[in-house]
Amino acid sequence: MCGIVAYTGMREAYPIIIKGLERLEYRGYDSAGIALQNGDLHVYKKKGKVADLKESLKNVNLEGNVGIGHTRWATHGEPNDRNAHPHYSANQNLVIIHNGIIENYSAIKQDLESKGYAFTSDTDSEVLVTFIEDIQKNTQTPLEEAVRLALQRVVGAYAIVVMSRDTPHMLVAARKGSPLVIGVGKNKDEYFLASDATPIVEYTNEVIYLDDLEIAIIKNNQLVIQHLDSTIKTPYIQTLTLALEAIEKGGFEHFMLKEIYEQPKSVADALRGRISSLEGRLHLGGMLEYINRLVTADRIMILGCGTSWHAGLVGEYLFEELARVPVEVEYASEFRYRNPIIRENDVVICISQSGETADTLAAIELAKQKGAVIFGICNVVGSSIARATHAGAYIHAGPEIGVASTKAFTGQLAILTMTALLVAYRKGTINESDYRRILAELETIPQKIEQCLKLNAETEKIASVFKNAHNFLYLGRGYNFPVALEGALKLKEISYIHAEGYPAAEMKHGPIALIDEEMPVVFIATKDSSYEKIISNIQEVKARKGRVIAIVTEGDTEIKKMADFTIEIPHTIEPLSPMLAVIPLQLLSYHIAIMRGCDVDRPRNLAKSVTVE
Ligand code: AGP
Ligand code: GLU
Repeated sequence: MCGIVAYTGMREAYPIIIKGLERLEYRGYDSAGIALQNGDLHVYKKKGKVADLKESLKNVNLEGNVGIGHTRWATHGEPNDRNAHPHYSANQNLVIIHNGIIENYSAIKQDLESKGYAFTSDTDSEVLVTFIEDIQKNTQTPLEEAVRLALQRVVGAYAIVVMSRDTPHMLVAARKGSPLVIGVGKNKDEYFLASDATPIVEYTNEVIYLDDLEIAIIKNNQLVIQHLDSTIKTPYIQTLTLALEAIEKGGFEHFMLKEIYEQPKSVADALRGRISSLEGRLHLGGMLEYINRLVTADRIMILGCGTSWHAGLVGEYLFEELARVPVEVEYASEFRYRNPIIRENDVVICISQSGETADTLAAIELAKQKGAVIFGICNVVGSSIARATHAGAYIHAGPEIGVASTKAFTGQLAILTMTALLVAYRKGTINESDYRRILAELETIPQKIEQCLKLNAETEKIASVFKNAHNFLYLGRGYNFPVALEGALKLKEISYIHAEGYPAAEMKHGPIALIDEEMPVVFIATKDSSYEKIISNIQEVKARKGRVIAIVTEGDTEIKKMADFTIEIPHTIEPLSPMLAVIPLQLLSYHIAIMRGCDVDRPRNLAKSVTVE
């Protein structure tokens, strides 16, 4: 998600806007730009940091009391100067800044092109502002009405601010699915707009949180709020009490916790516009050109590091069970140094949140040299790995700031599930009813993650019991064996407690020697095909005085009788259970680390993106 800042009032707009964009840098972005009204409309924008934009404007006249600014988190079109915001409309009378995704932009774009409009960028945002221009031209209505009419026909998420050359002291803002806050100047003679309160709070603590489907019209410093259906709404002004630092984290104490709690939305964003169980539709636009290579693959090799490698292991179960294609999952760091055999009909999938992991990038280059077709599953649009692959899909999780990967993992699983389903459907290895059943269940996952988050307090209590443990074992079977690995990684990388993930069946081949009353053992024991076996494993641990924490399906009474602690998560089908089972493990590691006084967002020795070998 990007950053939006706008200002209108008696002060110079540029200093307020550029400082506001700096305050929003924590959200992550790839480009920045501003537009100012000072007798004319001027747009300055470029790929790169806000500091680069500032540097480029050193000798520019930046006067003006009205302006808009944007930091971009690209979703449509690579990060470069022409795709940066603000975007002009075709006649350059309008400029827009936009946060979000216009899902039906290609249909709107085709219609506008058929009317002779041309575009200078690849973005959905430029389509929107040109759409507004077209409507204003055809209906001869004022800007705010043209915006309203356009948004009634837009599908997707947006937070926008629009300026017009013809009405210099006017800002029109609107939101749906992406945040927008309005700061009201003390004398109601100036207004500050931003993606969150961070750029506003130093000027005023009187704010209005725009609601979905609302338009804010600020003309000559008079504010009107209108619903998309034209009804006028009385602005509800709240007094902000949060301190600046707290606002950046959305009121959470750490970015990691904020990102754990973002997962209902980030998984919904990964699915958005891509699936409909009602229509039986599954659309992965970025994979289409090469999808047949996956459908006809003799083998799929999945490459990644750390958490992304764990996601790949879940992918192995998904592709083999649903699409009946052999899968090999490899650490990219190992793959790149051995002389792997890649045959003509092998396909490679690379997974990376940052899209900059050196080992994964090197593995891609090696696979390319051996002639493989490579798909990428990344979070950062336009990242090196995204650009190095032939096809792929973005997880649209928004910036992941915490070093410990959380929402990227569940986003990766959502994309892997959709990809395996799509391949299975095209190969005919899954029938229509199972296909739609899984799609329908996938659509419920964001809401089920929401339910898992309600386990936070209970998980915190369990964390307090085990915060001084020296070792942990995490055990799971099948789809949840990779979740055991992921839970162990989360704990060790932020709490510095040694933890190992293992297939539960492997206990008797060694790890069981470790069991004593000092060894907490976390089982992922949801109601699935290996449930009975897991019960035996829990009994083996209990027989040796081990202490058991079990993640179970809600309503489970069997395991409750034998485990020391149980955490109940909603039921889902086995292939989707990792997206739920991982949530309490993320929370458990977070709370244990906090209780141990660890720096959760910046754990020792670790970097968010390992761009070195
Ligand atoms: C996960 O919590 C770690 N931060 C780390 O293992 C990470 O998953 C790994 O470095 C891979 O990063 P990537 O997904 O950005 O490629
Ligand atoms: N979808 C728009 C783009 O790709 C906006 C992305 C954002 O939220 O920054 O430019």
